[in-house]
This record gives sequence, C-alpha cells and structure tokens, in this order.
Amino acid sequence: MSLNYEEILEKVKPIVLEAGKFIKEAFDSREIINKTVEIKDGNSADLVTEVDKKVEQSLNKKLKELFPTFLFVGEETVSASPTKKCNITDQPTWVIDPVDGTTNFVHGFPFVCISVGLVVKKDPVMGIIYNPVLNNFYSGIKGKGSFVDGKKLPLIKNTPLKSLKESMIFTEYGADRNPDSVDNKLTNIKNIITTPIHAIRSMGSCAMNMCYVARGSADLYYEIGVHAWDVAAGVVILREAGGAIINWKRDDNIGKDVMVADEPYDICRRHIFCIRGVIEGKEHQSKLLQEIRDKLIDFPIESE
Ligand code: IPD
Repeated sequence: MSLNYEEILEKVKPIVLEAGKFIKEAFDSREIINKTVEIKDGNSADLVTEVDKKVEQSLNKKLKELFPTFLFVGEETVSASPTKKCNITDQPTWVIDPVDGTTNFVHGFPFVCISVGLVVKKDPVMGIIYNPVLNNFYSGIKGKGSFVDGKKLPLIKNTPLKSLKESMIFTEYGADRNPDSVDNKLTNIKNIITTPIHAIRSMGSCAMNMCYVARGSADLYYEIGVHAWDVAAGVVILREAGGAIINWKRDDNIGKDVMVADEPYDICRRHIFCIRGVIEGKEHQSKLLQEIRDKLIDFPIESE
C-alpha cells in the first residue's frame, strides 16, 4: 500500500486545529480544567483532565472515519486499558497525545500541545504538533522537511555548537517519583551541568521540547520515562530539521561503521536522547551525543 503523506497531513490538519480550539478555550476559561483534574493510578505527579479524554476520543473517532484501516494508540486509551501496554505493529498507526504537557495545562503554563504521529512499519513518517495557546503549528513528513507555521525548520540557523560547554539542554523530571529513579535523574543532571554547560531547562512537555530542539532554540534533550505518544510526531519534525534521535545506550547489534547520530531509535523504549542539527556536521553531532551518553546513568523505569 502506498500512502500519500502530504494528502494525509492536509486531511488531518483541520481536525487538529479544531481540537486545538477546544483546548485553548478550556485553557483560557479554566472551568473544565479546575472541575475535572484527576490523578492517574494514585500518582499525584501524573495528571489527566476531561479535556485530555475528550480530545483523544474526538481525534480517534474522526481519524477512524477518514482512515478506517489505520490503528490508533493514544495516551488515554492505553492508560485505560487493562495491560497499559502500547503495542505498535507494522500497520499504519496513529500515535497520539491529546494534551502533551497536561501539568502545564492545569497550571496555565503555555507549553501545551497536541501531538499526532503517524507510524508505518514502526517508523514515524509524519508528525503534527500543535500548540493552540501560542498558536504554533509544527509538521513534518519523512524526506520532505519540517515546518512551523509554514516556515522551514530550523528557524535558528548558523549558531555553532563547538562543544557541550556552549550548550543549553532540556531534561524533565517526569512523573516517576520513586526515590531511586529521582536519585538517578538528579545524578544525571549533576553529571551534565558540571560539564559545565550553559544551562539546563525543564519546560514540561516532551513534544514541545522536541520542537524547540528542531527550531534550533535548544541544543539537546534527554529524558527517561517518555512514552511513544510523547515522541512519535517529534521524531519526524526533529529529524527533518537535521536533528538526530537515538536510544540512551548503543545496542550491541549495531555495526561499528554506524555513526552515533545514525543509530536507530525505538519509540517504545521509554526514553529520548536527541540533538539539533549542527553546522559542524554529523560526525560532530555524534561526538556531542557520545559525550552526553557517557555521563548518563541508565536505569529501569517504574511503570507509570
Ligand atoms: C508528559 C510530559 C512531560 C514529560 C513526561 C510526559 P503528559 O506528558 O511530556 O514533560 O516529562 O515524560 O509523559 O503526561 O503531559 O502527556
């Protein structure tokens, strides 16, 4: 089956914009958010609102009408399922986070977005990330570039990144507050900030972080605990902007001739480690990734 991703993107865009309108109204009025905020599975750091649920149901319904053979994996659908597992097969699959940055949404912090990824044969091929509060629409198609509001990414070009000492890095604390995980996350932050680097930032939305790395407004982003729906759309947008996304540790079966920046990335592995496009080239990108990788402690993720 040959799919025309440009046509698919054009069909999906109005659905995402409409869902964004609903999120923006809820963000401004606060009413539905204040009334319906819930904690997931007893974890007070993991929030969900009626808006997350409604947006996911509406996207699921509309996408099924348009593309009846495509499968659907959404944050709230998977959370509500008995296994809580996100199973991505070779079938074309929508991988969706209705509101990425739910905690920001609840607090009125504008780093909030809808993330819609299309994954075919486990490979992200199209991505839309829409922030309805800031009204920024990001999109990307594999092999066709990525854009924000019609402008080609990256927006910030020609900024050298000679070494990590000049870098600004995103990371997140995530929802897993198990004391051992928190210790490991803090050790990673200590190892990296004492490189030293220019700065660490935590903006509270994985998909937005990936967009800002794709813009060229931040240099790297790493996090453990993310889900496929947080990263699927961002993978396409960032890769098409010249960025590289890899797993935390290099798999043993990867050939010696494969550069770090070219390593494959598995969206279901529950982590993200990425870098923006750099004018110094892919070898340099690989060198910077490896330097950070050497400082990262890998640790198991408590199921959220
Ligand atoms: C979360 C956000 C957060 C990241 C978590 C994600 P949600 O998604 O992206 O920044 O730290 O790992 O799960 O819960 O707001 O959709």
